[in-house]
Amino acid sequence: MTEQSIIQLRDLKKAFGAIEVLKGINLDVPNNHCAVVMGGSGSGKSVLIKNIVGLLKPDSGSISVLGKRVDLIQGDELDQLRLSIGYLFQSGALFDSMTVSENLMFFLERHLNLSPKEANDKIMQTLEWVELPEKLNDYPADLSGGQKKRIALARAVIMEPKILLYDEPTTGLDPVSVRMVSDLIVRLQAERGITSVAITHDLLCAEIIADSVHFLQDGQFVASGSLEEISRFDHPAIATFFGNETSHAS
Ligand SMILES: Nc1ncnc2c1ncn2[C@@H]1O[C@H](COP(=O)(O)OP(=O)(O)OP(=O)(O)O)[C@@H](O)[C@H]1O
Ligand SMILES: [Mg+2]
Repeated sequence: MTEQSIIQLRDLKKAFGAIEVLKGINLDVPNNHCAVVMGGSGSGKSVLIKNIVGLLKPDSGSISVLGKRVDLIQGDELDQLRLSIGYLFQSGALFDSMTVSENLMFFLERHLNLSPKEANDKIMQTLEWVELPEKLNDYPADLSGGQKKRIALARAVIMEPKILLYDEPTTGLDPVSVRMVSDLIVRLQAERGITSVAITHDLLCAEIIADSVHFLQDGQFVASGSLEEISRFDHPAIATFFGNETSHAS
């Protein structure tokens, strides 16, 4: 039923000029569920997630998040809703000129009314949660790729969002780091009841985090189901995707 969906997309369409990127997307993400979106490069996965968080407006269709119409609200109401949505950018997007602690403080200071001690305690707790408390005063340039992703994840969760949108949380990481970040994503769901949409090409990550998988091709979801079901789905683009992934991994 619709009221149980934390995120609900109906016939979502988005074009840039003559390029129709999303041609009618439907998606229901229930509470405490992780929906993984897969698809080729340029298929519109990041555009989809930016619509959900209200960074892009659709041309038509509807987007409901926590019962609010993201496509219709704006200003303070949209800003308020965004505080419930953590967004892990594809690029990580830490501020290079700020230390890890300053990166985490940036949003806390603006949006939560905490004393300096409360804010520092929260930063330490969050860094301990991603197992990087010793990196407090380091700059992003001094972190490994996997550590940057974990700090970006810490920054996304420190505001205690109800929803997390992950854009390729493990791309470019070695398998040990992939597992570490994926396990944190699973813990967020188990321990904090977070509902999420995650874009990934990474089969190990998808295997660990996905409750459902949705394959985007030519602007539509051509298959939805478990990872196992999708991998066996009879569709040329999906066969290519999984074939390439297998040969890439071996
Ligand atoms: N702001 C924008 N203005 C114009 N075109 C855009 C904009 N954002 C995305 N596009 C176009 O929309 C299409 C889908 O882009 P998107 O970033 O969603 O792909 P993707 O599936 O995330 O790819 P990748 O796996 O490489 O990250 C591309 O053709 C891209 O050029
Ligand atoms: Mg993308």
